Amino acid sequence: MAREPDWIDVGAGEELSKHSCRPVKLKSNPIALTFKDGKFGAVSHACNHVGGPLGEGHLDGDYIICPWHNWKFHRVTGKGEPGYEEDCVPSFPVKVEKGRVLVDVANPTKRNKLPHEPHPLARKPERAPGPLRLAGISTTAMDAAHPRFSGSDHLLGHALKAAQKKGAETRLITLNTLKFRTCEGYFSKSLRACTWPCSITQMDPKDEMDQVYEALVHWADAVIVATPIRWGAASALYFKMVERLNCVQVDVASKEDQLIRNKVAGFIIVGGQDNIQGVAGSMLAFFAELGFFFPQFPYVAHSRGWSHEDMENNVRIVRESKALAQGAEALAERCLDLAGRLIKAHIQMVPVAERGGMKGRPIMADLMDRD
Ligand code: FES
Repeated sequence: MAREPDWIDVGAGEELSKHSCRPVKLKSNPIALTFKDGKFGAVSHACNHVGGPLGEGHLDGDYIICPWHNWKFHRVTGKGEPGYEEDCVPSFPVKVEKGRVLVDVANPTKRNKLPHEPHPLARKPERAPGPLRLAGISTTAMDAAHPRFSGSDHLLGHALKAAQKKGAETRLITLNTLKFRTCEGYFSKSLRACTWPCSITQMDPKDEMDQVYEALVHWADAVIVATPIRWGAASALYFKMVERLNCVQVDVASKEDQLIRNKVAGFIIVGGQDNIQGVAGSMLAFFAELGFFFPQFPYVAHSRGWSHEDMENNVRIVRESKALAQGAEALAERCLDLAGRLIKAHIQMVPVAERGGMKGRPIMADLMDRD
């Protein structure tokens, strides 16, 4: 039953009609106020998905497009886009009197969230019983139709074979053959806009980054990432993957839970010239932030140093070196050995209260205590 209206004056119609969509304060809560074809509309500011700010969106016809992940709601009725009408945000009666825009806060329509099938990756990470599992991630780029020898892939192959010999299951993920989009910076819009599973993965069924997520978060006990050095850094594909893994790190920083538990990471780094320690440092830092553990001596690497441009010799050395192959094999064994012991020990994550100084943990409470 309709209640007694409670009309709130939100401003001058002339001024408010200059914006097709904007947030407007209504008592303490903002609403999304729109103006199109001479008519105002008022709906809740909070999107049904994960609370994106609809008033900061833009119009597509009579639909507000949420600025976070593009869900659409009718600007007057609050209903979802065609096919999803029942997924609706509250809408408010609006009128214009004496040039002033008035919104009735007493009679919003009801919010209704349709249940959405959770993405398969959203399931709770729980180790399935079975042998230890090692994922190898190749990050080198090459012409897939005319492949060349890759030193980092070659050593990764040795690592995976050694794992199989130990009775482990292995999975090779070659980023060069996956079609996946670059991170589109949802984190820059808001911490809450960078979701797990990744917004892109949820929106784009053709995006193949889900294979990396599935392996790292759910399937593998240990992962070995192999990269060439390109101008003193890991490969471009490595960084493309890492940017998309931001959602896993954000999950660690923002929630009480942690996606990566009792898992181990190791690295293979091969370069024509140098900066192995710089590349290793950056890889170790990132995987540490995800929550991975490392074995003793967590990477194997090779480079001929600053004064060598003869890459054909570098390639030959890596291809022929028994020591490097054995080193990669031993790295796989160390990773699996530690993973096995962690699984047995079932290490608990660090409690939130003890995470001061870790990435993204606010320390304001401390400062307030002191004042
Ligand atoms: S589409 Fe609105 S919060 Fe995701």
